[in-house]
Amino acid sequence: MKFPNDFINKILCGDCLSVMRQMPDGCVDLAATSPPYNLKNSTGNGMKDGRGGKWKNAALVNGYSHHNDNMPHEEYAKWQRECLSEMYRIISPNGAIFYNHKWRVQDGVLQDRQDIVAGFPIRQIIIWRRKGGINFNPGYFLPTYEVIYLIAKPDFQLAPKANRHGDVWEFVH
Ligand SMILES: C[S@@+](CC[C@H](N)C(=O)[O-])C[C@H]1O[C@@H](n2cnc3c(N)ncnc32)[C@H](O)[C@@H]1O
Repeated sequence: MKFPNDFINKILCGDCLSVMRQMPDGCVDLAATSPPYNLKNSTGNGMKDGRGGKWKNAALVNGYSHHNDNMPHEEYAKWQRECLSEMYRIISPNGAIFYNHKWRVQDGVLQDRQDIVAGFPIRQIIIWRRKGGINFNPGYFLPTYEVIYLIAKPDFQLAPKANRHGDVWEFVH
């Protein structure tokens, strides 16, 4: 049996699902995550690799160290839904999840990630206006945004005046 104090003010390195499954219900106020986007599972206009961006020697050019980012899509969506379910269970009654993802077009079809977030109480979609981008392809405008799903428990409220930030946030990676 684990207690909230087993997790507070600690950085726990591990598989997110196994770690979250040990956490009691409602023990954190906020979950913020940028999960792997499964972008190596791409037909061409996504990135095959090269996630080091403009730093040619970046370690990420070779992908993540423990994850190949290339799952069959159904399996990936199921995994992400399991992650969201655990996050939702461990946030408090006034807690929230900030779930960052990327919309993309594959074979002419928009993947708006609805298959991942459907059924979760989405309060708002925030646009993250990123600096730069990583697809230098003459056939496409440079991607400069991602989305952040704010998924909230019913009692979630912003801090006073925080709503002035608006729903387009510009910040560096
Ligand atoms: C899009 S990146 C986010 C990076 C992070 N936001 C940062 O700024 O460093 C996704 C991260 O999830 C990690 N990851 C992949 N599978 C995981 C798992 N099962 N449990 C926890 N983390 C995982 C990857 O190694 C990668 O670092």
